[in-house]
Amino acid sequence: MQNEKVALFIIFGGSGDLARRKLYPSLFRLYQKGYLDQHFAVIGTARRPWTDDYYHQVISDSLSSIQAPTDQIAAFTDHFYYQAHDVTNSEHYVVLENLAEKLDQKYDLQNNRIFYMAMSPNFFGTIAKHLKTENILTTAGFNRLIIEKPFGHDYNSAEELNEQIRSSFTENQIYRIDHYLGKEMVQNISAIRFGNNIIESLWNNRYIDNIQITLSEALGVEERAGYYESAGAMRDMVQNHISQIATLLAMEPPVSFSAADIRREKIKVLRSLHIDTPEEARRNFVRGQYAAATVDGTRLESYREATQVNSESNVETFVAGKMEFENYRWAGVPFYVRTGKRLAKKETRVDVVFKQLPMNIFETISDEDKLSDNVLTIYVEPTEGFGLRVNAKRLGQGFETRPVDLDFRHSAAAAGNNPEAYERLLLDALNGDSTNFTHWDELSQTWKFADVVEKVWAETKPTDFPNYPSGSMGPVAADKLLQRDGRYWIYNPMQATPDK
Ligand SMILES: NC(=O)c1ccc[n+]([C@@H]2O[C@H](COP(=O)([O-])OP(=O)(O)OC[C@H]3O[C@@H](n4cnc5c(N)ncnc54)[C@H](OP(=O)(O)O)[C@@H]3O)[C@@H](O)[C@H]2O)c1
Repeated sequence: MQNEKVALFIIFGGSGDLARRKLYPSLFRLYQKGYLDQHFAVIGTARRPWTDDYYHQVISDSLSSIQAPTDQIAAFTDHFYYQAHDVTNSEHYVVLENLAEKLDQKYDLQNNRIFYMAMSPNFFGTIAKHLKTENILTTAGFNRLIIEKPFGHDYNSAEELNEQIRSSFTENQIYRIDHYLGKEMVQNISAIRFGNNIIESLWNNRYIDNIQITLSEALGVEERAGYYESAGAMRDMVQNHISQIATLLAMEPPVSFSAADIRREKIKVLRSLHIDTPEEARRNFVRGQYAAATVDGTRLESYREATQVNSESNVETFVAGKMEFENYRWAGVPFYVRTGKRLAKKETRVDVVFKQLPMNIFETISDEDKLSDNVLTIYVEPTEGFGLRVNAKRLGQGFETRPVDLDFRHSAAAAGNNPEAYERLLLDALNGDSTNFTHWDELSQTWKFADVVEKVWAETKPTDFPNYPSGSMGPVAADKLLQRDGRYWIYNPMQATPDK
């Protein structure tokens, strides 16, 4: 098979939720497409004592939503091996290496190894260290390490973790997952910007007034409450996903679309990210926590009522804030960001708001005749595509303008056929393409940015929590943040005529 990749995957946390829900289905889709064929094998590890047969059953079960003949599933699961393994026990790595060696020969894997850390970040450093000391890293093939978020809790812990990992792996062997980067439309930001002269030539502070990034979730914290209590929305979403989206929007055009060139530009633009002073952070960031509400006759519990959450918790489930890039292209253009749980609708989108014309030559009879802002919207989830709001003449006599939304969105069915983010990221890692993973230089800068806000918040307890009802678009202060600058959130599903 021409496209076939050759590698041994060793998954730490092979019995866990992430492995079952994301990794096995993604690997299977790569198998169905021929990227994985004869020359691959997977070792799943965790402490519980499973047999290979049981492991195969777990994998088959994880594929239940994918249509496939039983013999294809059986042929796929045959490449999977389970090894009971405690990551803190050095002796277990000897057994693991023996199995890896055996499979390498059996499947002719050319010493290529991909290590996937699908377990608690507390163990990442220990695993990385043992992989080196117990000689599981090969010298002949490639060694790649895929790491899940969260990467640290703040700058200092992230740096410490990075140093532990870097003692075994070089930066270009490390693939830090940000699954948002694997999403089709986030990648399409580059296509829209760099494939269209009419857009890229306006992509600067002369024509753009502000940029808004919204990642709103309709669900509450659900079963992630335990983790969320130690993280909050700033660490969970802003430091990583939102900062990555802002970076892709703000970076200069890369010399080529290669991983190295894109990384270079992302790192460069992040160096211009303004790190707030504590005073600025207090002013530029708003935090919120959801209260209970009754929506469509159903009572939705407040964050503080969720299991595993402290009944007096001050953890934020909502953040709105302002980011600024201090460089020639973006000076003076705020990037407003917003994310939260239990908001009105699940939606991820970017609204690029263009500056108003220098004057309106059309008679302004009333305020309603005001020309609408031109807005380029990039839809990421649940629909994918983009829209452009322009002004056009209203049909009929007289002269009135009205905003027209030109929309291009993939139907849900087409979107369903897109490779899942994890499938794409796994294939990238197999190909050695790190474009869609985060470099340490990016992470370190976004942690420094987030740390200032976290520190300010840790110093002052919120007095108004919970401060937004479930099913709303966050606290009133989030609207005021923009109103203060003479602006407003373009995306507002709470209004009768949304997006206006
Ligand atoms: N689940 C998701 O959708 C998701 C999404 C984004 C990021 N993540 C990240 O992915 C990672 C894994 O999350 P998860 O939800 O899959 O967690 P999980 O369901 O709790 O799985 C943890 C895994 O680690 C194993 N484990 C625990 N202690 C061990 C030890 N000492 N030695 C060996 N294995 C051990 C567990 O198996 P045993 O108990 O049998 O040892 C289990 O397989 C986390 O970093 C999480 O933040 C998860």
